[in-house]
Amino acid sequence: MSEEKSSGSVKKTCSSKPVEQRRMTDQEFLEAAYQVFAAIKQGKKKIALKVHQDSLHTANLKPITVKQIGDQETIKALATWRKKHAVWFPAQFEVTLEGTGKWLENQVIGTKDRLLFMIYDLDDTPAGHMGFFRFTPVERACEIDNIVRGRTDILPGTMTSALNTMLKWGFGTLGLDALYLRVFSENKRAVALYKRCGFEPVKLIPLLKEETPSMVKWVEAPEDFTGEAERSYLQMKLDKKDFIATSN
Ligand SMILES: CC(C)(COP(=O)(O)OP(=O)(O)OC[C@H]1O[C@@H](n2cnc3c(N)ncnc32)[C@H](O)[C@@H]1OP(=O)(O)O)[C@@H](O)C(=O)NCCC(=O)NCCS
Repeated sequence: MSEEKSSGSVKKTCSSKPVEQRRMTDQEFLEAAYQVFAAIKQGKKKIALKVHQDSLHTANLKPITVKQIGDQETIKALATWRKKHAVWFPAQFEVTLEGTGKWLENQVIGTKDRLLFMIYDLDDTPAGHMGFFRFTPVERACEIDNIVRGRTDILPGTMTSALNTMLKWGFGTLGLDALYLRVFSENKRAVALYKRCGFEPVKLIPLLKEETPSMVKWVEAPEDFTGEAERSYLQMKLDKKDFIATSN
């Protein structure tokens, strides 16, 4: 620190040049994101995101943590909603409580690049869920995952406010520059929700149906696929700069 005299006053200035912050490498970004997810899921970092609608606090987004492994109330809600909305998921199969419990433990809590939030009303009644899954570190991007309104009788409009809350957290705390999602192109309610939150269509991805006796699965067609697809995903994207510009 040095002192500089200017018209009678003493101004303190730094003699050294400001240190430029080094951009994290892609691997460092990924590791940092995994650490945040792990700390939250282990319950070491406690968060609850407040959801506001017309300036009123109406709901909360709470991450699913290790505490909910084996929790029958959570598992039952997830299984009921999964069954009800099966057509909008990439795979359709017989949904059971046992299978949902295993999925929650291994595919959600035990998966390092995945974080799922439950939406609760102010009485702590679960109303739906939404989360993050799979990073593209070179773009500082992640995908929006598992958006479901479980209860249609409470919290009108809350999926929009909750998604906006989660997006703000992703762009802020997680340091993301972009968010992507894939939605069945004919899923009008979901596409409308994403457009309300600022997502723009990127491209259509043709899907092929794979059937086994116990499962129907929609998988992305190979790049060189030229046939007519029965269903397609619409990929959508939201850039941080566009989110900030519209949310202010
Ligand atoms: C996709 C899905 C989450 C959208 O839920 P939603 O209930 O339509 O979303 P919102 O809670 O934001 O409600 C929007 C509706 O509430 C109304 N609304 C009322 N108050 C509102 C407010 N303050 N802000 C926004 N919308 C409000 C909107 O006008 C809209 O009404 P409309 O459907 O008549 O146009 C839901 O349809 C769903 O769970 N679908 C099955 C699973 C699924 O498809 N998931 C997506 C997989 S990619």
